[in-house]
Amino acid sequence: MSQSALRLGVNVDHVATLRNARGGPQPDPVRAALAAIEAGADGITAHLREDRRHIRDDDMARLKAEISKPLNFEMAATEEMQRIALATKPHAVCLVPERRMELTTEGGLDVVGQRAALAPAIARFTDAGIRTSLFIDAEPAQIETAAALRAPVIELHTGAWCDAVTGGDRAKADREWQRIVAGARLAGEAGLEVHAGHGLDYATAETIAALPQIMELNIGYFMIGEALFVGLAETVRRMRAAMARGRAAVADAARA
Ligand code: PXP
Repeated sequence: MSQSALRLGVNVDHVATLRNARGGPQPDPVRAALAAIEAGADGITAHLREDRRHIRDDDMARLKAEISKPLNFEMAATEEMQRIALATKPHAVCLVPERRMELTTEGGLDVVGQRAALAPAIARFTDAGIRTSLFIDAEPAQIETAAALRAPVIELHTGAWCDAVTGGDRAKADREWQRIVAGARLAGEAGLEVHAGHGLDYATAETIAALPQIMELNIGYFMIGEALFVGLAETVRRMRAAMARGRAAVADAARA
């Protein structure tokens, strides 16, 4: 894989949301994961929430057993979730904040404030051969603390930027974008592997793919919605094409 390769992780949570609406077995998030991989996804992300509102324990176990690409186990850093993740042995865990009433993960994890609790969790996962990614806002103090905690990976929260782009708030979109650009640069300099996700669509994925430090995008909601109209395989292909267009700018800049 070239140095500027950019991975696509497909988040299948909302296939489970749809399944749970009727309480039966369909649509199956594991089937969606297999279809996404077949179409070119590099990995699968799923979030086992405390309230099990979409992904359930047996979904996570089946994903681990049935998919051929890395599983990124998104979770709050609770004792219960750490126990389940250690038993599941995914490729990576992505630690996120979780509030019971939120519609989705609303902000980044406060690794500065939760440093003491996160340090043993990261160490436990590292000892078990599981990479820890910290889902944080692109704030220098958060990034520096993630590096000090020896987390191998951070995922930059792109939600505020994507909301501003979609909502047509140019000034806020520019501000948020500059924060992401500076954050990705700082994280790269600190030796962190940088991922990004939340709220991305074809256009924002193409834009952010041009940041050379970013190695992986994790995308769910938009892709599952788009799949209703063009199918999941075609959505994966279109997303990969958007990412490749954005990434080509990195290769062009390196050649110039
Ligand atoms: N990355 C993380 C850490 C997330 O919490 C989520 C949402 O579950 C995503 C990526 C995917 O976000 P979206 O579903 O908005 O694409």
